[in-house]
Amino acid sequence: MSILIAPSILAADFANLQKEVEMLNKSQADYIHVDIMDGVFVPNISFGIPVTEAIHKHAKKPLDVHLMIVNPDSYLEAFRNAGAEIISVHYEACSHLHRSIQAIHNLGAKAGVAINPHTAIDLLGEIIADIDLVCVMSVNPGFGGQKFIENTYSKVSKLKDLILKKGSSAKIEIDGGVNLDNAPKLIQAGADLLVAGSFVFNSDDPQATIASLKQF
Ligand code: DX5
Ligand code: ZN
Repeated sequence: MSILIAPSILAADFANLQKEVEMLNKSQADYIHVDIMDGVFVPNISFGIPVTEAIHKHAKKPLDVHLMIVNPDSYLEAFRNAGAEIISVHYEACSHLHRSIQAIHNLGAKAGVAINPHTAIDLLGEIIADIDLVCVMSVNPGFGGQKFIENTYSKVSKLKDLILKKGSSAKIEIDGGVNLDNAPKLIQAGADLLVAGSFVFNSDDPQATIASLKQF
């Protein structure tokens, strides 16, 4: 199967959000990645439920919602109602991760677990069979436009091995600093879905950039 691409709306022009979503509708993007930051789990605040709803109102692609927030359980239903197809919570933000995953599934959404760069793949051993996606952070979450962390390749290989060993159907998503240099190596290591924010939206032709990421 060819690589899936999820442009991150965080890098879009927020003053022209409808236009940006319509551009993504016309592109080869598979998902729209929606970054939610609370200023507590990460040192930045992005936007929340009403803006997610507004994106969903115009989107023809499913929303992949990445919750970089503490206490995500309190907001799962609101983000599902706002149009999330995939909801990812952070491993580091959930004391009862299994319960959070169950809650996402009970809402009829796909459940993802995001892991920070320092979080070991082995920690997912007991949850990998229950989830639909692992979002491997290839930057420290909180900001777009950061430099890709090279250690990600080996984490993706380890994760691929774990998924095969446990018979899991979880997809591997990579989030942060993705570009045309690292995309082929990430795909080779086992990535299924690439998030790209600044690389897409800061380019002269975002639709062509999305198409170029899908070539591998
Ligand atoms: C980082 C976010 C990413 C970010 C990616 O905290 O989770 O999704 O928007 O942006 P780029 O591709 O610019 O690193
Ligand atoms: Zn993200």
